[in-house]
Amino acid sequence: MSTPPVANARLLPVGPSGQALDLRSLAAHETHFGRLPLIEGPRIGKPGPLVHEIEKSGLRGRGGGWFPTARKIHAVVESAGTRRAWSAGRKPVVIANAMEGEPASSKDAVLLRHSPHLVFDGIQALAATIGAEQAYIAIHRGSPVIDVVLRALADRNDRVTIELVTPPARYVSSEESALAHWIGDGMGTPVYGKRTFERGVNDRPTQVQNAETMAHIGLIARYGGEWFASVGDTKAPGTCLVTVGGAVNAPGVIEVPVGTPVAEIISRCKGFSTEVSGFLTGGYGGAWVATDNLMASDWTPESVAAEGGAIGAGILWALDARTCALHEVARVALFMAGESAGQCGPCRFGLPSLADDLATIAGKSAQMSDVHRLNTRIPLVQQRGGCKHPDGVARFVSSAMHVFQEEVAHHLRGRCSATSTGAALPVEGMRAIPVGLPGKDFK
Ligand SMILES: Cc1cc2nc3c(=O)[nH]c(=O)nc-3n(C[C@H](O)[C@H](O)[C@H](O)COP(=O)(O)O)c2cc1C
Ligand code: SF4
Repeated sequence: MSTPPVANARLLPVGPSGQALDLRSLAAHETHFGRLPLIEGPRIGKPGPLVHEIEKSGLRGRGGGWFPTARKIHAVVESAGTRRAWSAGRKPVVIANAMEGEPASSKDAVLLRHSPHLVFDGIQALAATIGAEQAYIAIHRGSPVIDVVLRALADRNDRVTIELVTPPARYVSSEESALAHWIGDGMGTPVYGKRTFERGVNDRPTQVQNAETMAHIGLIARYGGEWFASVGDTKAPGTCLVTVGGAVNAPGVIEVPVGTPVAEIISRCKGFSTEVSGFLTGGYGGAWVATDNLMASDWTPESVAAEGGAIGAGILWALDARTCALHEVARVALFMAGESAGQCGPCRFGLPSLADDLATIAGKSAQMSDVHRLNTRIPLVQQRGGCKHPDGVARFVSSAMHVFQEEVAHHLRGRCSATSTGAALPVEGMRAIPVGLPGKDFK
């Protein structure tokens, strides 16, 4: 094993002057991290030995669900069955999910812009471990990192060729079954009734991991599971990328050990730039948390959930108190309603109705009956969709109704505490946060 990095800047290393290292070339990447060792493949229906290091590491996926990566590896390899079954078309497929469908997130773009080969190494290591011979990286159409990725891919001579795919820049097209659907059939919509790890691309067992998760795999393959777990939280070891946005003085993407106090994250971003009315955690499929509660919490999936939030894909957005929180929530709910695939009842009828109720509540003539109607409708969209898109929107809306209840009361009296009419949260694929790094954005 090569010498592991000592600092907490594992995925996004910085140089002596605090500047972000540019590791876009394979030579710079291998000088910094060393070469990816040879990874053994699966035997008699069991994953290759790297899975034991990933188990030891406690790695959990960074794409939103924080699901244990080793469990997914076992599930895919079990589903693929024996080599004899592979010849019948069960050979597994790997997809790196770098779609970053959450408009308030920039971490995967930042990672790819600075360290694309670490993500590719993770893809290679995972493909070897599960015996995949098809590997993809999915980046949404029109993304500015596509050029960087294509150039970096051209530098490599991998055992398994990594193919870039560019599904539409739509929120639900980044859900894992939608990616498999896009690659197999050219349709970027979620598929219900099939589990991707069993029947993904062309019905083959398909392992989808977030780009950041892949990069962590690239490091575990070099330095081992014990090294990975030497920082972070006992239930969620390692470091994680956080996109910090909104009312902070230095918004951007930072890398911290999981379990870092939220107050420390805000302080690394040079503190609040103005009064904050609440935090959005995890993005538009995430949840709102009262400012003081989150500031007293640590950044782990469990601690943030205990405060009613959802760490999701590592989004921490401080809402400027001068904007109307209800107006913001209504705008995003309308955007999310428009982002559905329109295939299931909760998305076709439920989400537009929630957005409609919110628009009324955010307006000047809100009535208590509007609030009651919204509260009755929220549970009707939960756990009834073909994918988790409506559940995410329901959580976003219901948490807002709780955290901003004083503002709701204001609106019921025909008032609004906002002093600014400007919009805060980004929608429609805009990436409002500068693509930067500690050392660049965090001088
Ligand atoms: C509506 C919806 C959108 C999603 N968007 C993304 C995304 O942009 N990027 C991502 O990595 N995962 C996204 N996910 C989660 C993926 O379906 C999948 O669980 C994830 O890529 C697995 O990677 P991980 O285990 O490394 O987290 C989304 C899920 C849903 C329901
Ligand atoms: S729940 Fe919505 S986004 Fe998900 S599959 Fe059904 S229609 Fe599509």
